Amino acid sequence: MTRLSGITPSGRVQLGNYLGAIQRWASQGTAEDLYFVSDLHAMTTTHNPAMLRALTGEQLAVLIAAGISAESVFVQSDLTRELGALSWVLECTCTFGEAARMVQFKEKAKGRDGARLSLLTYPVLMAADILLQGADEIPVGEDQRQHVELARTLAKRFNATYGEVFTVPSAVLPPAGARVRDLADPTRKMSKSTRSTSDTAGVVFVLDEPELVRRKIRRAATDGEPSVAYDPARPGPANLLEILAACTGSTPGEVAEGYGSYGALKEGVAEAVVEMLRPIRLRAGELLDDPAELERVRKAGAARAAERGEHRLRSALRLVGT
Ligand code: ADP
Ligand code: NA
Repeated sequence: MTRLSGITPSGRVQLGNYLGAIQRWASQGTAEDLYFVSDLHAMTTTHNPAMLRALTGEQLAVLIAAGISAESVFVQSDLTRELGALSWVLECTCTFGEAARMVQFKEKAKGRDGARLSLLTYPVLMAADILLQGADEIPVGEDQRQHVELARTLAKRFNATYGEVFTVPSAVLPPAGARVRDLADPTRKMSKSTRSTSDTAGVVFVLDEPELVRRKIRRAATDGEPSVAYDPARPGPANLLEILAACTGSTPGEVAEGYGSYGALKEGVAEAVVEMLRPIRLRAGELLDDPAELERVRKAGAARAAERGEHRLRSALRLVGT
């Protein structure tokens, strides 16, 4: 049983990515699971090539530094040829209407003539990611469910039309995890990708230096209430308590009991986050300082992923008549 999860290098890996996803991938994943850095998906809107390359390397290093087996990790663009070929076959299996009905496409393209064509076709590339690897389960949030449904539809249609090649994948709910909010604006979720790079005061990046992490957490927005208590309706304090609870494997209510002031709470949160991230930052730093080693890990992952998919791609190409 293979689960496949991706992370898009649309920005630097942030604390929410770690607490909400990567930490669990590292601790609960099985040897069959696959994790990939979806750099091709980061190209559907304006992007900076040098930045994309750097972010891709950083994400790969963080996934491995976080303890995910290097055996399970690969970079999407290392399979550009395989995925390009399979995407074409799948595009020839998909109707324009099906792609145009994707809610995310409608929201992001907003009818703009200048939207990249890849914004329309990227769910088909995502189907290729899934079907090439023969993945059974895709843990996704609500926003990606429709795309997994499309992959499911295309797999069934291909199998029925040309011959049984593809495993029909299912979208599964990811295990409920921490939802980390932006420290400066706790009404929104912490995100690597939704704000300009100059406006990251409320985003803790996994590779931030400890002093910077402390500074960002000390400046976190709280409300005027004097008491440290857990109340989900108070997003600033609740966020800090939830982060600390996630770092320490406790509950936000229990955490609140240990603190008499927000100053003290912020120090506690800062130290817990710094300590949790320290080994990851150090290990990722070693990998990033040793490009030959990172390249070796990357090549090995690419070779395994390509080999996994090779027979499916070959069968699919033969069955469609090429
Ligand atoms: P981002 O919004 O940072 O670009 P992605 O959409 O690439 O994040 O999501 C990558 C993974 O990280 C997903 O599993 C997503 O659920 C998780 N994730 C992203 N932001 C948060 C957050 N603030 N809190 C918890 N999990 C998050
Ligand atoms: Na995102």
